[in-house]
Amino acid sequence: MDDAVEKYLTELAQIEHDDPVLVEMEARAEKHGFPIVGRATGRYLELAARSIGARRVMELGSGYGYSAYWFARAVGPDGLVVCTDGDAKNATLAEDYLRKAGSWDRVRYRVGDALEGLAAETGDFDVVYCDVDKDGYPECWRVGRERIRVGGLWLCDNVIWSGHVATGDDREGLPGWTAAIREHNRLVAEDDRFVGSIVPIRDGVMAALRVS
Ligand SMILES: C[S@@+](CC[C@H](N)C(=O)[O-])C[C@H]1O[C@@H](n2cnc3c(N)ncnc32)[C@H](O)[C@@H]1O
Repeated sequence: MDDAVEKYLTELAQIEHDDPVLVEMEARAEKHGFPIVGRATGRYLELAARSIGARRVMELGSGYGYSAYWFARAVGPDGLVVCTDGDAKNATLAEDYLRKAGSWDRVRYRVGDALEGLAAETGDFDVVYCDVDKDGYPECWRVGRERIRVGGLWLCDNVIWSGHVATGDDREGLPGWTAAIREHNRLVAEDDRFVGSIVPIRDGVMAALRVS
C-alpha cells in the first residue's frame, strides 16, 4: 500500500481505538523490526471476527500477541484465542502484554509448530488466522480450512506480498515464498466452499467465508 495512504488509515484506526499496551507493542516491533500486522489491519481483524460473532479463534503464527490482542477484543470475556509460535520468547512477551491489556485469560498460547498446535486442539473454529512463514501457507490452508465452521472465516496476512504476487518475483532472501503465497491465493479461489476476497489493506489480507 502507498505509504501516505497507510499512514492515513493507521491514524484513523488510532482514533477508533487506542491503548498504551498497543503503543508499547508497536514500539517493540519498530525497535526490533518485528512484522506485526499494524493498527489498521488489527482493527480489520477485529471487525471481521466480530462480524461473524466469533468466540473461538485459532492463530497460526502469533508472534508476541499483537494480532491476538485484536482477536481477544472480538471474542469477548467468554471467548478463546489459541496462539501458536515456534519461539518460546514470544509466548512470554505475549503473556506480559496481554495481561496488561486484561485479555490473557482468553488466550491459550502453544509454543511449537502452528499446525501441530492446531492438531492438538479439538473442535472447529469461527476464525482460523494465518501469519506463519509464507512457505507454509498452502499447507496451513489445506489443514486450516477443514477446521472452520460453516459461516466462519479464513483470514490470512501478506497475500499481496508488496506486489510480488503479481510479478511472481521472489523477495530477496526468501526463495519460494512468493510462489507459496500465489499457490495459497489460487487454492482459496478454487475452493467453492469458500467465498473469498483480498482486502488490500497494508500487505493484503485474504478473507474467505466458509459457505458450505
Ligand atoms: C509475521 S509474525 C506474526 C505476527 C503476528 N500475527 C502479529 O501480527 O502480531 C510470524 C510469526 O510466526 C512464527 N512462525 C513462523 N512460522 C511458524 C510455524 N510454522 N509454526 C509456528 N510459528 C511460526 C514466527 O516465529 C513469528 O513469530
